[in-house]
This record gives sequence, C-alpha cells and structure tokens, in this order.
Amino acid sequence: MANLRIASMVGARPNFMKIAPIVHEIQRTPGIEHRLVHSGQHYDQQMSESFFDELRIPKPDVNLEVGSGSHAFQTAEVMKRFEAVVLEWKPDVVIVVGDVNSTLAAALVASKLGVAVAHVEAGLRSFDMSMPEEINRKLTDAISDLLFVTEQSGIQNLRKESVAEDKIFFVGNVMIDCLVEHRKIAAKSEILGRLGLQKDGSVPLAYGLLTLHRPSNVDDPEILRDILSTIAKVSEKMPVFFPVHPRSLERIRQFGLGRYLTEEKATTPTRGIVPLAPQGYLDFLCLMDHARLILTDSGGIQEESTILGVPCLTLRENTERPVTVEQGTNQIVGRDPKKILAAAERVLSAERRPVKAPELWDGHTAERIVKVLLEKFRPELLKSSSTETSRR
Ligand code: UD1
Repeated sequence: MANLRIASMVGARPNFMKIAPIVHEIQRTPGIEHRLVHSGQHYDQQMSESFFDELRIPKPDVNLEVGSGSHAFQTAEVMKRFEAVVLEWKPDVVIVVGDVNSTLAAALVASKLGVAVAHVEAGLRSFDMSMPEEINRKLTDAISDLLFVTEQSGIQNLRKESVAEDKIFFVGNVMIDCLVEHRKIAAKSEILGRLGLQKDGSVPLAYGLLTLHRPSNVDDPEILRDILSTIAKVSEKMPVFFPVHPRSLERIRQFGLGRYLTEEKATTPTRGIVPLAPQGYLDFLCLMDHARLILTDSGGIQEESTILGVPCLTLRENTERPVTVEQGTNQIVGRDPKKILAAAERVLSAERRPVKAPELWDGHTAERIVKVLLEKFRPELLKSSSTETSRR
C-alpha cells in the first residue's frame, strides 16, 4: 500500500505554531510521507527561525526564499516556485494554514494541478474585504477540498457560501494545541525577570502587552498616532510592553512617532509604552500568560488570550473569530480612543472571569485533522493501525 504523501506550506509567523502540532502528529503516524515547504515570506531569525527551533519543527525540506514584496509579487513568486515542487514530488494533498499570502498561493497551485487542498482554519470571516487576509481566506476556502474549521461561526459561513457539507470538518484549533503543549515550558521563560517584572519567582508586577501590525492600523500616520497616544494614556497606570513587528517599526520611524515609546534602554519600567524586539514563541506566551491586559490587532492572540483567561482588547472594528468575544475574554474596541480607554478602565478594575474554552479547543485538533486525512486518502492505513492497536 502506497504511503500518503502530504506537502504542507508555511510562510509567515502565525503559520508556524499552527503547523507544529500537525507535523508532530504526522511524524507519529505510520504510512505518511511529509514535505514541509517554507515560502520564505518571513525570513528573519526573530520572525521565522526561532519558531522552528522552539517548536521543534523540522527544517523545511524546501525553502522558496520569496522574501518581502507587494502582495502580487509575493503571491506570484510563491506560486511559480511552489508549482515546481508539486510537479516534482506529486503529493496526494497539500495542507495550507491560516490566511497569509503564502496560504492562498499554495492553494491555487495545488488546486490547478488537480491536487487536493486541505485548509486548516477555514471559514473565518471578518466580512471586511479591505483586509488582505479576508481575500485570502475566501479564495482559499473556495478552492479547498477539505475545510478544517475552528469554531461554529466558520461552519455557518461556509454553509452560506454553499460549500458542500461533506467538505467541512469541525476539528477545533491547532494553535491551541501548540499553546497547551508549550504553556508549562513557557512558564520557565526568564523574560519577566529580564524585563524587571519579577524577582526570584515573586508575583509579577502588573503590565500590559501590545501588538500592532495590521496595515489598516499602522500604514496611516494619523491612525497610528492616535492609537499610540491612546495606549500611552493606558500606560500611565502600568507599563505596556510592545514587541514591535518590523512593519510597524518602519512606520513609527517613517512617521516620526518614536516619542510615544519609552527609551529603548529602560530597565524596570513602571509606566510608558516599552518597545521590545519581536519575541520568540515561549517568551511571548509567558508574557501573555501573566499580562493584566492585552491590546492587539492580531487574530491569533484573540484566541490565545481566551484560553489563557487574559482580558484582550482588539484594536479593530471587527473580528473573524466571534467565539473569542461570545465565550472568551475578547472585546472589539476599534480605534476610538474613548472606547479603548473606557474598556481598559473597566478591565483593570474588574475581577478576571473564569476561562471557558470554546468547543474542541482542547489540544487534540491535529490528531483529528490527520485522522480525517487518512480516512479520506488512505482508509486502509487506519484499518490496519486500529487492528494493530486492538491486537496489542
Ligand atoms: C503577514 C500576513 C499577516 C500576518 C503577519 C504576521 C499577509 C497578507 N499578511 O503580514 O496576515 O498577520 O504576516 O506577521 O500574508 N519583514 C521583516 N522580516 C521578515 C518578514 C517581514 O523585516 O522576516 C518586514 C519587511 O519589511 C516586510 C514587512 O515586514 O515588507 C511586512 O511583511 P509581510 O510578509 O509583507 O507582511 P506582514 O505585515 O508581516
């Protein structure tokens, strides 16, 4: 019986924690050959390589080394270079995760070559077509053969778009698999000590955590200024640490907004927005876990904060992850300074709510995904492994 051949595509930072649990599950499963392809959309040590080390993701079998560029450039280059990989290796299925340019590019290539596409994190919709990710999500879902969904809203969205019922699989959230697996290890991170927030295992001082990188928030000088000046007010009560995405750093410099950040060299800050380099997975997880408040425009952080039980204010007008608001700790506050300040005030004076994990966000999503893939493409393998298990 031929092995099942799976090629997976990753490209940008939020892809790495999603692919790690899937790669590990594939490694544990007999009868699967796997090739990991990195598009090279993110290429820095801090934006890419450190995640491979910390999450024990094997070195990519292929790196397409596409690098930065316009959306058309990135998408087209990934397509051109990935096509050769698919033609040469002939996978049975290509796994794509999330909603970045590399996701859509790989899905298009596979689909046009008649290779099945499995989209992990399908069905999420912000209904905001000015977001590049929304375009990537809708197009990827439209050409995927297996749609792995993280939350109920995803199923509803796909049904409304007339996706056939037998293509939709509600499996939970692989990003949470990664968090569950690494939370204890992250607790040993020394980042809190390094930032002067904790001495010898004492209770950490109160602090906020900020991330910001969406084009809609950072590419316009007035919008970025308003956001930073508002967060600066929040940071009068406690320091707000800000691991700065390269795109945002460039814009802050370009627009001359550095005055909203504290001195880079500050130790034991007690207030102000404190800039940090982009953090690795474990240090960032530790920072999230102990934060009093998270302010973000990221998608994944809305989900992670929900599981950690840390209040999250999302600096966007919408979310494609409504379960984090309905059941989790997330509030959509947009960019209105009054709304942001009022929400921060409320959160800081309120008791923390108990964590209510959304359905199937239980650390076992990758197992479900691999099982579905076997059922679809090599059911014989499932039968033989279950016979083996029952014999044992
Ligand atoms: C991409 C994704 C976004 C995701 C984000 C996470 C798309 C459309 N966007 O946005 O969904 O939330 O990644 O970070 O795919 N750069 C570096 N080093 C790197 C990579 C990028 O310095 O390793 C700089 C370059 O100046 C580049 C800029 O960051 O031009 C933006 O990178 P890019 O991949 O175009 O988009 P992101 O904003 O990171």
